[in-house]
Amino acid sequence: PRVGSSASHGKTILIGEHAVVYGAPALVLPVTDVRVTATASPLSAGAEPTLESTVHTGPLGSAPAAVLPTVTAVTATLRHLAQTGHPDAGALPLHVLVDSQVPTARGMGSSAAVAAAVTAAVADVFGVALDTDTHHELIQECERVAHGRPSGLDARGVVATEPVWFAAGVIEPVQVTGRFVFVVADTGVPGHTREAVAAVRNRHDRAPAMVDSVVERIGGLARAARGTLVDGDAQGLGATMDAAHELLTTLDVSSGDLDRLVGAARGADALGAKLTGGGRGGCVLTLAADDEHAARIATALRTAGATATWTTSIGARA
Ligand code: PMV
Repeated sequence: PRVGSSASHGKTILIGEHAVVYGAPALVLPVTDVRVTATASPLSAGAEPTLESTVHTGPLGSAPAAVLPTVTAVTATLRHLAQTGHPDAGALPLHVLVDSQVPTARGMGSSAAVAAAVTAAVADVFGVALDTDTHHELIQECERVAHGRPSGLDARGVVATEPVWFAAGVIEPVQVTGRFVFVVADTGVPGHTREAVAAVRNRHDRAPAMVDSVVERIGGLARAARGTLVDGDAQGLGATMDAAHELLTTLDVSSGDLDRLVGAARGADALGAKLTGGGRGGCVLTLAADDEHAARIATALRTAGATATWTTSIGARA
């Protein structure tokens, strides 16, 4: 055994939140500039396994509920290793250090990102590089502890380096032409995904045709957005983001805070701006023409009340 380490990053939903619940396709955007790193250090035999993170530092065995997904990341990976040729893994005590820049409860995939980094760091103790499917299954095991029934969108996004297309259970990386620069801004208010999903369900029960038509149109925007990424068409992508925000607003999953940040980004000539994730709090995602423009948008967003902003890009390095 050696000191294992790994890293992952946050994610946001580019297009398709809520509609994906009703079967529409979705595009997930990796936020590679907002990172999680994890190291796993073997301790001497018989020592107590420990966790060190901003949420909890202390024995793994008596960790509070908030870090049970992280505990699962350690134990599930050791179990997997013990079953696949590393019988000593089951009894090896580890000190696991997690450093996460991904804010919690903002739709940025913090729990999946921590799970991705910790599972891979623990495997690395044994020199094992987890294959994509095994890694995904281990992350999902942690996500079930964190969220109940995760779709898998977060688990894919936090390990991807390109946008990920989700349609009918099929996932595909999207090959991007050129470079796209995004600014993510935090309202400072936790997202309320569960309530927002329930509200859309309620509306669907009362007015199924209305919701079905919005779902259909968001699906169309996701397909169009995918085309713009492949074609390197930033203007076109921005237009799909703006349209998606209007449709999500008709589903009543936006909020005053989200609308104010979207407005501020558009006032700073963002190519597009929308809420991202479950809504009713959480973050907005905006598209900038270039890095200099991204800096101006970020300033406008903070002036409008954003508590944090992150700039991230996909595609070719300029
Ligand atoms: O808030 P997030 O990033 O976890 O996204 C929720 C996305 C929804 O489509 C609203 C719900 C879901 O389970 O897909």
